[in-house]
Amino acid sequence: MTYVPFARKYRPRFFREVVGQEVAVRVLKNAVSLGKVSHAYLFAGPRGVGKTTIARILSKALNCLNLKEGEPCGECENCREIERGSFPDVVEMDAASNRGIDDIRALKEAVSYTPIKGKHKVYIIDEAHMLTKEAFNALLKTLEEPPPRTTFILCTTEYDKIPPTILSRCQRIIFGRLEEEKIISYLESICEKEGIDYEPKALKLIAKASEGCLRDAASLLDQASLYGDGKVTAQVIEGFLGILGEEKVREFIKLLLDSEADKALGFLNDLYKKGYNLSKFWELVEEELRNVILCKSMKDPSTLVENPKAYKEFNAYPLEALLYLENLINRGKLEAKVRTPLRAYELAVIKSLIVKEIVPLSKILTGPIPVQKEEEKPKSLEDKVKDLLSPLAFKAFKDAPKERKDGKLVVKIEETVFESFKAEFEKLKGEGVEFEVYKKKEEKKGTTTSLF
Ligand SMILES: Nc1ncnc2c1ncn2[C@@H]1O[C@H](COP(=O)(O)OP(=O)(O)OP(=O)(O)O)[C@@H](O)[C@H]1O
Ligand SMILES: [Mg+2]
Ligand SMILES: [Zn+2]
Repeated sequence: MTYVPFARKYRPRFFREVVGQEVAVRVLKNAVSLGKVSHAYLFAGPRGVGKTTIARILSKALNCLNLKEGEPCGECENCREIERGSFPDVVEMDAASNRGIDDIRALKEAVSYTPIKGKHKVYIIDEAHMLTKEAFNALLKTLEEPPPRTTFILCTTEYDKIPPTILSRCQRIIFGRLEEEKIISYLESICEKEGIDYEPKALKLIAKASEGCLRDAASLLDQASLYGDGKVTAQVIEGFLGILGEEKVREFIKLLLDSEADKALGFLNDLYKKGYNLSKFWELVEEELRNVILCKSMKDPSTLVENPKAYKEFNAYPLEALLYLENLINRGKLEAKVRTPLRAYELAVIKSLIVKEIVPLSKILTGPIPVQKEEEKPKSLEDKVKDLLSPLAFKAFKDAPKERKDGKLVVKIEETVFESFKAEFEKLKGEGVEFEVYKKKEEKKGTTTSLF
């Protein structure tokens, strides 16, 4: 039996099997059910996210003999022929290799005939952005006034390269990259059907590496399942992709924060020797560090970070150090463009040596300021009072008559003066000072102002 790669084997046959692309599916299914299918569509989006797949499902839906709520049956003669690629009224054309005006002329001629077998002719033009200017021009008219029961589906990964004249004649449907969780559950379902043993971490790595492209995800799983002893493990995927899992990346970040230069440089060179993709690794470091910083600075990081718990161990590092490191990582990334990546990254590691020395700003502001200290001598009462009072209050205090009584300094002070500095004088209570308030006219004799 020939081996059918997963990406082909698990290509959805019905709208309901498509992963994600909810808008595209809803719009097209409704159009089919309501008989309001447009004569020209433009499917735009990254590679491997379901454009051709959905174009084929739509072709089936338009020709199926037992259509049910917008879904093709997949069993009637027309559905089967379309799936086999032998249905005369569904034509797939690759614009990358048929990009000239003659190809479009031939297409136009074919378009002018009514459907041979089916109900509806469908032309799927893949890589539509590859058509030449002349070919686009030749197509314009047909798109504007297509024969009845004919639909064009232009697929492209490069929306910007489609001329506006074409765009305005098509109903545009934008296909997005698939989210990581959706890719993971898609991979899980393949593993289940294939009886493949896997580590969840491994599927996560595949999903991450495929960057929203389901075709890549399926192919990676395919290759990984054929590798080693059949179990898809994170280790196999890591070696395979030449990238590291998040945990290892976090280990590296810790080495940098702890200023463990020898180990960090060793780590980097080891990856290099094993043939890992260093730039990809650096990207992961950047991404993980971003998560660390978000977890450190947000009250509820779960809105932006997938698994905040994994970053707990970084709480002990000051934000200043994390931000400094972030800057270095970013600089390393830029420098890797103008010098050998390994050298650029090594330099970043070396620069990170001072990360450990970074003291949080808050500590500098609230803690003792590390200045050269003079020999410390006990402060005199006068100095203490001077520190505690404003200059005016201090003058009033100094000028007032005083006497020593039971180990306390009693300050005799005129009522209005006392009232003006009451709050400040209160502060002296703990310093063994008492106030004796008198009214202005009262004479105080036998006291001196120079007791302290
Ligand atoms: N949304 C999806 N749901 C389920 N499977 C998908 C989806 N998108 C892609 N696939 C898988 O990836 C394979 C390729 O998808 P498809 O040919 O539709 O991609 P495409 O968007 O046309 O890409 P390209 O721009 O490279 O032509 C399919 O055979 C299928 O296995
Ligand atoms: Mg395609
Ligand atoms: Zn059918």
